[in-house]
Amino acid sequence: MIVYVLFTALAGLGILLLFVYLKNPYFWKDVNYAITAIQIGMRLNKFSKQKPFHSILDCFLEKVAKHPDKEFILFEDRSYTYYQADKESNRVARALSTHAHLKEGDTVALFVGNEPQFVWIWLALFKLGCTASLLNYNIRSKSLLHCFSCCEAKVLVAGSELKGAVEEVLPTLKQLGVQVFLLSDDCDVEGIESLSDKIQEASDQPLSRQLRANINIKSAALYIYTSGTTGLPKAALINHERLWMATFLQSMVGIRSDDIIYLYLPLYHSSGFLMGLCGAIEKGITVILRRKFSASHFWNDCRKYNVTVIQYIGEIMRYLCNTPKRDNDRDHKVRLALGNGLRADTWAEFLQRFGDICICECYGATEGNVGFANYIGKVGAIGKENFLQKMGCSYALIRYDTEKEEPVKDSKGFCIRVPRGETGLLVAKIGRRTPFSGYAKNEHQTEKKKLRDVFEKGDLYFNSGDLLKIDNEGFFYFQDRIGDTFRWKGENVATTEVADHLLMVDCVAEANVYGVKVPGHEGRIGMAALKLKENMEFDGNATYQHVKNNLPSYARPRFIRIQDTLAVTGTFKQMKMKLAEEGFNPVIIRDPLFFLDENKGYRPMTEEIFNSIADGRIRL
Ligand SMILES: *[C@@H]1O[C@H](CO)[C@@H](O)[C@H](O)[C@H]1NC(C)=O
Ligand SMILES: *[C@@H]1O[C@H](CO)[C@@H](O)[C@H](O)[C@H]1NC(C)=O
Repeated sequence: MIVYVLFTALAGLGILLLFVYLKNPYFWKDVNYAITAIQIGMRLNKFSKQKPFHSILDCFLEKVAKHPDKEFILFEDRSYTYYQADKESNRVARALSTHAHLKEGDTVALFVGNEPQFVWIWLALFKLGCTASLLNYNIRSKSLLHCFSCCEAKVLVAGSELKGAVEEVLPTLKQLGVQVFLLSDDCDVEGIESLSDKIQEASDQPLSRQLRANINIKSAALYIYTSGTTGLPKAALINHERLWMATFLQSMVGIRSDDIIYLYLPLYHSSGFLMGLCGAIEKGITVILRRKFSASHFWNDCRKYNVTVIQYIGEIMRYLCNTPKRDNDRDHKVRLALGNGLRADTWAEFLQRFGDICICECYGATEGNVGFANYIGKVGAIGKENFLQKMGCSYALIRYDTEKEEPVKDSKGFCIRVPRGETGLLVAKIGRRTPFSGYAKNEHQTEKKKLRDVFEKGDLYFNSGDLLKIDNEGFFYFQDRIGDTFRWKGENVATTEVADHLLMVDCVAEANVYGVKVPGHEGRIGMAALKLKENMEFDGNATYQHVKNNLPSYARPRFIRIQDTLAVTGTFKQMKMKLAEEGFNPVIIRDPLFFLDENKGYRPMTEEIFNSIADGRIRL
């Protein structure tokens, strides 16, 4: 959305420049960012008017023509040039066209891991004017069927290693009349057709543009599923406009055509697919594709392939910082890291350890209509307010009641903007240029993301679900996700804050903090699941000293649960709900459990303590 909005705001630029200069030490970076945004806005405007519409596929074909022999994807020990990728996708398109009878506007679900085939199939689908539904390859049975039916795909293409998962749901797929293909040379399962052999036999001649003549900027390009920590995934509809805007992020943060990007994030999510893959195509760069993240291979890969740009999510950076220190930690060519969710402490540690890497933290949701980028590199900030963006996009931080889980209203029933420095819920006005497409076949969840009558009767805002703070210099700081705070003894406890403190304890490698219900108490009391550093024991005394010295009593985790691995979602978000439901009963929980005995320290949790808490003999 940003670029579009910025573009429209061009008119007021001149007057503002002078005014802002006097007030803002980041003036030139702001201006630079704004100019890039304006240029991008102009390009997007041009694309939208072109007939036929200029999509990311056309951009790819331009790069093929411009540098056919440049390496496009390096994967394991294979490498593919732009030219080869084009030919491969032609074959796939022809095979699918012949055997699945696809036509413009059809939706095809991709159930494929991070591998080059994923990219060829997606390009092929765009060549046929089809919409690609990017299924998370970790999901199974009920969730898989749910995701599948959300997008009403008529064809499913699955990776060969996912055959078992497909067989599980095959009877239902048959009932739905879905044609199922497997990426293998043959398949002995009735109702699943092999696809690899058909691709091999197909011609690699280019496909006619006529096949996608009616695709325009508002046409559905993709379905991307947002990984909820609870409930079933929601399918966000990504049209070509949204796709382009996410794609341009690489340009916005200064990625150059000679960069090499390391891509290990799942391609079924927007960071990997839109910001990573599509962004790389737009810049015409080389992608080092990996099946999945590996902390031990990370820097070796970066060195081996001369990687200059990495993508991250905060947890990944923490994993990297937790690896044993090496002499060659700074021996690499990575100059820029693009991502989100990096906390200030890890940020500083990462820079200190791995050298001078420009970290560009970005904020935005797959389905959201507002986003920010911290193009200044200010440690800990998720974005910077830009004067152009401010002029063009109506977003606001509003006061939020975390206990009632709803915005605070004034006497007239409207929301209240928080002053600078105070935490508020980010909302962004839904309008023609800042649309919210919602979730496919999920009116309920779509409606839940909308806020009405926010500042005046009849207005409509997108509820980001994120609590942010903005400082005097215009930097945004992530405070929490709604639900990532709990209330105990009338106080709000931010789980991230407590986790940050636990991570400072020597034996702690990872921490997941959440609130658990206690019989006879309001709210939730703090609990933490910890993963310990290798070959270390839980040091109850040190943990106690640290939390006692750094956290108010209400925020100290009263229960600690030691786990070998902390459960995360496909995008490495910590799972809290299930842990919270499991509570702190030692009879149920097999993991080592500890209880914080006020003023004494952590001691092993026993059935007796549990019963005393339950019947109120121990007051918490
Ligand atoms: C990486 O860069 C070095 C020096 O510039 C070069 O010798 C080497 O061949 C490059 N490696 C790859 C895989 O391109
Ligand atoms: C931890 O604290 C307990 C209780 O104060 C004490 O008995 C014990 O010796 C301490 N352990 C260590 C390793 O300091």
